[in-house]
Amino acid sequence: MDETTSGTPATPTTGRFAGRTVIVTGAGAGIGRATAERLLAEGARVVGVDLLADRLDDLVARARSDRLVAVAGDLADRPVIDRIVEAAAGRIDGLANVAGIMDGFVPTAELDDDVWDRVLAVNLTAVMRLTRAVLPTMIRAGSGSIVSVSSEAGLRGSAAGTAYTTSKHAVNGFTLSTAFFYAPAGVRCNAVAPGAVSTSIEAPFRSQYAGERLGPYLQTNVPPIATANQLAAAITWLLSDDSANVTGTVLPSDGGWSAI
Ligand SMILES: NC(=O)c1ccc[n+]([C@@H]2O[C@H](COP(=O)([O-])OP(=O)(O)OC[C@H]3O[C@@H](n4cnc5c(N)ncnc54)[C@H](O)[C@@H]3O)[C@@H](O)[C@H]2O)c1
Repeated sequence: MDETTSGTPATPTTGRFAGRTVIVTGAGAGIGRATAERLLAEGARVVGVDLLADRLDDLVARARSDRLVAVAGDLADRPVIDRIVEAAAGRIDGLANVAGIMDGFVPTAELDDDVWDRVLAVNLTAVMRLTRAVLPTMIRAGSGSIVSVSSEAGLRGSAAGTAYTTSKHAVNGFTLSTAFFYAPAGVRCNAVAPGAVSTSIEAPFRSQYAGERLGPYLQTNVPPIATANQLAAAITWLLSDDSANVTGTVLPSDGGWSAI
């Protein structure tokens, strides 16, 4: 694969997704973009979704592929979910729920409702709605793979603020429950939990207390920052038949952070 905009070059498996349609949210930047680019390189038809249309325009311009369909919109808006499913045009082999936002590392006592509502709407409710929307197509086909991006913050309490931490723990529970219910239908559901990754995600500290409390842990525990392509490799593995026997797992891709 040629050098992408998302970090070190990925090593695609030729034709692994040929003839398949995969929806990728957050496809305009970071991990979602690397995932969309890798899927295209491996032969998939990709429905790429992002809030920011200019990011999708850039992806489309660089990809130069008639297998890429872009859908611009806010995943927290219900009609956007319908537009994504329509764009898939009746075939959905995979869904990568990658889009997500941070919470300013705000701790519980300093949380305001707007931050809580927005973080849960994007990181959790949108994941549920889009997963719910693709399931009938996958169940009819008797196969499908859903991968949601969780976080190291979904494995511990010391990696983000309270809203983000809550949303990612919930994504893990959503993943396990969905995997349990739909394994008999041939639909797999897994999550990937990244540690720190070099992307465009905004992560300023909006709480002095959080900086003082979290800072020492983040300074000592966090392994070297990963590339978006390293995460795309894990996500595409879980989307592919290479992981056919894997469902209901939360796979850390974190350089060993979760082992600390
Ligand atoms: N970067 C990290 O260190 C890190 C660590 C752990 C987990 N994650 C998770 O990885 C995922 C991807 O993050 P990233 O670092 O690549 O971020 P990013 O900001 O580089 O990319 C995320 C993309 O999602 C889009 N997006 C955000 N809100 C949206 C919405 N409401 N509707 C549609 N699109 C929306 C953004 O416009 C952006 O293009 C997120 O779920 C994030 O929580 C990231």
